[in-house]
Amino acid sequence: MKNIIILCFATLLVLSKQDQEASKESVQYYQSLLQYFLKNSSKWEKPKDSRKFFKLKNEEDEAVNHGHYHFIIVGAGVAGSVLAHRLTESGKFQALLLEAGGPENDFTDVPGFAPYLARSDFNWGYKTIPQNNSCLGFKNKQCNYHRGRAIRGTSVINFLIYVRGNKEDFYEWGKDNPGWDYENVLPYFKKSENSTLDLEDPGYHGKDGPLSVEYVKYQPEVLKIFLEAAKQRGQNILDYNGQNQNGYSTFQSMTRNGKRCSVKILIRNITAFGIEFIREGKKYRVTASKEVIISGGTINSPQLLLLSGIGPKEHLVELGIPVIKDLPVGKIFHDYHVYIGLLFSTNMSTKSEPPLEEHIKNDLKGRGLLTAAITITGGGFENPKIPHGLPSVEYGIFSGLIEEITKENWEALTKALSGKYIYDVVPSLLHPKSKGTVKLKTKDPLDFPVLESNIFTDENRDDMKEMLTFIKYIFKISKTPVFQSIDSRYK
Ligand SMILES: Cc1cc2nc3c(=O)[nH]c(=O)nc-3n(C[C@H](O)[C@H](O)[C@H](O)COP(=O)(O)OP(=O)(O)OC[C@H]3O[C@@H](n4cnc5c(N)ncnc54)[C@H](O)[C@@H]3O)c2cc1C
Ligand SMILES: *[C@@H]1O[C@H](CO)[C@@H](O)[C@H](O)[C@H]1NC(C)=O
Ligand SMILES: *[C@@H]1O[C@H](CO)[C@@H](O)[C@H](O)[C@H]1NC(C)=O
Ligand SMILES: *[C@@H]1O[C@H](CO)[C@@H](O)[C@H](O)[C@H]1NC(C)=O
Ligand SMILES: *[C@@H]1O[C@H](CO)[C@@H](O)[C@H](O)[C@H]1NC(C)=O
Ligand SMILES: *[C@@H]1O[C@H](CO)[C@@H](O)[C@H](O)[C@H]1NC(C)=O
Repeated sequence: MKNIIILCFATLLVLSKQDQEASKESVQYYQSLLQYFLKNSSKWEKPKDSRKFFKLKNEEDEAVNHGHYHFIIVGAGVAGSVLAHRLTESGKFQALLLEAGGPENDFTDVPGFAPYLARSDFNWGYKTIPQNNSCLGFKNKQCNYHRGRAIRGTSVINFLIYVRGNKEDFYEWGKDNPGWDYENVLPYFKKSENSTLDLEDPGYHGKDGPLSVEYVKYQPEVLKIFLEAAKQRGQNILDYNGQNQNGYSTFQSMTRNGKRCSVKILIRNITAFGIEFIREGKKYRVTASKEVIISGGTINSPQLLLLSGIGPKEHLVELGIPVIKDLPVGKIFHDYHVYIGLLFSTNMSTKSEPPLEEHIKNDLKGRGLLTAAITITGGGFENPKIPHGLPSVEYGIFSGLIEEITKENWEALTKALSGKYIYDVVPSLLHPKSKGTVKLKTKDPLDFPVLESNIFTDENRDDMKEMLTFIKYIFKISKTPVFQSIDSRYK
């Protein structure tokens, strides 16, 4: 295990031990850290390509030999990190793990800072090309596609909610991919997990794995109301990662005492691009005797394959890339559809937020607002058409930053709500039919790929019809006695 060192983040765990008084120094430290990143993220400009990060000092130089390994893994994100660990665990194999981004830091470990991480170099900064049927409220009709650029990938900037795929979905995937049905993957979910949940179905969770799973630590009053409303509509409160997914819960979260903390894989010396990769301005070549694994995430993996001549023939030919294998790479860019913007007002107290110092103190004790990424705190799975059927919608309750919505749209959404405590129930379509594409702009690896999300473009408009059904259900949720007891209103 020469190239990979696995460490858990012991220093921060000490700070975040429950009930320990947060020292004045650590509060000051986090305060100045936040101020620094706030300032830095306000200056951040969304990159248009990768040239800022990878630049050859001399285009003409031959690639330097970087040696020979059993495995080469491109991308130390969620998948790549786990693969690297598992492949080298026995000590028999050497793996080279290449990652474009740098290590995490104390700032990225605070879940509540997630909105700022999206405006930093921890995000690749992708966005879609202008869309006709979605993203209409955003600048230039372009949606942002945040993707982590760091050791541990998108999990460094994501929302940390622990939701496994539905059993039925795994059975479906398992039909074409033997070994990927639910029975086969469940042992690995359990093996990877260290759960401290109270309400968990026996046989579905693990205690000895590296991935810490707990309930979201920040549990505002409105979360309790949301769960009570679910009960009032006859929904169960349950372990949605257990026997049955249809029901509601406080979200299970991949944090430990409210910190973004799981197993960390620290890699020395490596910042890379491809198998012939660029590091500190120099080109290197590295070879593998067993396998080259591409784990660059939803957007970069297809980009890399296409650049290497693996993809739809007509697209590669058009760009002048020699075709190695004609395969439908990048043809199924499939994302769930969400609708944000159903903001309800309440008569709950809006007594001013405590000062930042208080939030940081709480966070160091493992509680409070900053332990949750953008205050997503609970959710549920339903199939409004077929009770007990495969859930078709996930409802999450949250409030938080909505980025880059045009000023007029933001004002239209929020004007009537100023000074009110608001909540937002966000529906996500779990099985949308619309599919988009990932293509190359040019054959230059430093150009960003072209993202066409194509949301709400299926022929019969079924996705839009479903979304409207789910939105109507949210009004039913807001009409439950418990939501009415806080005077829940739309506008
Ligand atoms: C805003 C947001 C919120 C989310 N919230 C949640 C949530 O609450 N719960 C949840 O389960 N999931 C969430 N997700 C999704 C989750 O983070 C991803 O599903 C997961 O990270 C995918 O893992 P991956 O290994 O495929 O890719 P990633 O984690 O994206 O890792 C890919 C890695 O490869 C690197 N890479 C790419 N190209 C190259 C290259 N050419 N050379 C070297 N390195 C390269 C990247 O820098 C990156 O580090 C969220 C995602 C986003 C964007
Ligand atoms: C990292 O780089 C340093 C200095 O270049 C070198 O001494 C060390 O052996 C390298 N470590 C690995 C794991 O490659
Ligand atoms: C601050 O922002 C700049 C530009 O956006 C970036 O290059 C730099 O890495 C950031 N600093 C830190 C410590 O993140
Ligand atoms: C979007 O609409 C414009 C104008 O009507 C049209 O030119 C363009 O082809 C459409 N794009 C897609 C992807 O349908
Ligand atoms: C699991 O989490 C608990 C509580 O945080 C901790 O005490 C225990 O050591 C963890 N187990 C492992 C295997 O990491
Ligand atoms: C909020 O509104 C409800 C319903 O109208 C009412 O019963 C309740 O007393 C109000 N609460 C406050 C704090 O105003």
